[in-house]
Amino acid sequence: MTSNTVPYDVEAVRADFPILQQEHHAGVPLIYLDNAASSQKPRQVIDAIDDYYRRYNANVHRGIHKLSEAATAAYEEARIKVKRFINAANKREVIYVRGTTEGINLVAQTWGRANLTVGDVVVLTQMEHHSNIVPWQMLAAEKGFTIQYVPVLPDGTLDMDAYAALLRDHPVKLVGVMHVSNVLGTVNPVQDMARMAHDAGALILVDGAQAVPHLPVDVQALDADFYTFSGHKMLAPTGSGILYGKRDLLEAMPPWMGGGDMISRVTLTGSTWNELPYKFEAGTPSVAEGIGLGAAVDYLNSLGMDNIHAYEQAITGYALERLAEVPGVTVYGPEAANKGAVAAFTLAGIHAHDVAQVLDSAGIAVRAGHHCAMPLHECLSLQATARASFYLYNTYAEVDALIDGLYTVKRTFAGA
Ligand code: ALA
Repeated sequence: MTSNTVPYDVEAVRADFPILQQEHHAGVPLIYLDNAASSQKPRQVIDAIDDYYRRYNANVHRGIHKLSEAATAAYEEARIKVKRFINAANKREVIYVRGTTEGINLVAQTWGRANLTVGDVVVLTQMEHHSNIVPWQMLAAEKGFTIQYVPVLPDGTLDMDAYAALLRDHPVKLVGVMHVSNVLGTVNPVQDMARMAHDAGALILVDGAQAVPHLPVDVQALDADFYTFSGHKMLAPTGSGILYGKRDLLEAMPPWMGGGDMISRVTLTGSTWNELPYKFEAGTPSVAEGIGLGAAVDYLNSLGMDNIHAYEQAITGYALERLAEVPGVTVYGPEAANKGAVAAFTLAGIHAHDVAQVLDSAGIAVRAGHHCAMPLHECLSLQATARASFYLYNTYAEVDALIDGLYTVKRTFAGA
């Protein structure tokens, strides 16, 4: 397989990313394969943030001066870009948060706190990121509901029969599932899972952190009740993210954080709430980050999410083929056809941290550890994996360098 199999000019894309032009160590170029943790940023996003701070930095929704109006317009325009990007029905359903973790906590602390009680069940999956487990555990300890988990099968997919049985046998109020696993890369059947949840009278919350940067996502087609994702994994700044929620649900939910902007009227004896989405956006928001998120959406649209997805699938397939050639390597998760741009692996007899350390000396950045998915690693009887995760600027040559790096790791620890 070569990069010519899909029409995608990766060198033109790479030219937009200043960080990729630098050396990681003297004479050693950077090969960035830690995209599931955070992506790099193109100059178009960096310029949008720089432009805001240089030309029209001001608070939003507050001033009637020109700068505040310009900042508000750019910030709200970015919201509309996101609305179109995920096909939300209305911009009022698009709430700015700092990232996926905050999006899930918002749902737990508003919808969850108002609706979950003793006897209720929340269904999660064994592959969830800590951010879609811990907020529910914290709330369950207070409210007395229970949590059940959909098991992960040996091929890295969810046990859908077990999911159906959980929905059948328990009073499930909410299903929480990641769209794409940050470890296994599994693309979960969230549309089917939503239909099954709804048939059972439950809502579904989707963690889209590893999906929205990589695949076309249509929240209405998925019929997700809540869908949340982070900007920093999709070329945008840290501190940017979105919680999408169906309007009727959001309207019925109480606010979470109190403060400026989220109120309609405040007296010394009580307050009333602003309309959506501002009811959930207390305090001065991350204005530059929101504007940067809008620029990232523009950039992704300019390439086309279908093209990005096709390119990533091709490069991930190539990486899986090459990893399979390395004696001692075990890759976890499904085959390339049902996998995001992630390859978590172990190298027999060598700790994942040592793998990452030696790769780093060769200029290759990967993540090693449990990737904020300790329960999944426990299910797989693993302490740690090394993880190479790809994005729209990675090349086949970088995959080859990863494989060469793994042979260097093996030589380094031979006989150790
Ligand atoms: N969730 C991020 C990862 O998988 C931090 O690395």
